[in-house]
Amino acid sequence: MTSQTPTSQTPKKLALINGANLHLLGKREPKIYGSTTLLDIEQRLTAHAKAHQIELCCFQSNHEGAIVDFIGESGLLSPTPIDGVIINPAAFTHTSVAIRDALAALDKPFIEVHLSNVHAREPFRSHSYFSDKAVGVICGLGDMGYDMALDWFIRHFSA
Ligand code: DQA
Repeated sequence: MTSQTPTSQTPKKLALINGANLHLLGKREPKIYGSTTLLDIEQRLTAHAKAHQIELCCFQSNHEGAIVDFIGESGLLSPTPIDGVIINPAAFTHTSVAIRDALAALDKPFIEVHLSNVHAREPFRSHSYFSDKAVGVICGLGDMGYDMALDWFIRHFSA
């Protein structure tokens, strides 16, 4: 009889969540956010994750409640819950106690990503409702920040 103990071989599920206006990437203020589209980013990360036996669940919404719903449904309410989250909460970074609480309820590691260096912009962008709970925060490195977050999870899951 073989026993099924969780090992580094166990398939993992990761969520990639993007908040308000990030569906416009590529067209939205390209000098700040770059010319890569969200679809490009999602496809690139999905392929890289798959090569490491990680299922990437991509979700974008302009609605705070929809993101709260997604975290709850793919986390606590799912029979195969996600094991971690890469999130760019976008403008919700600076406003959303509800998404913070959803991630706290999920109780899985998450990495906060921002394309721009939020600390080099308007002062209100320096405050985040997420950073103190994140395992890490990546900002200012453009869309490469998402790849770096995924690489952290690949190493974390294989440890
Ligand atoms: C952002 C920074 C936020 O301040 C802004 O509201 C965004 C995008 C970024 O990726 O740089 O929408 O999260």
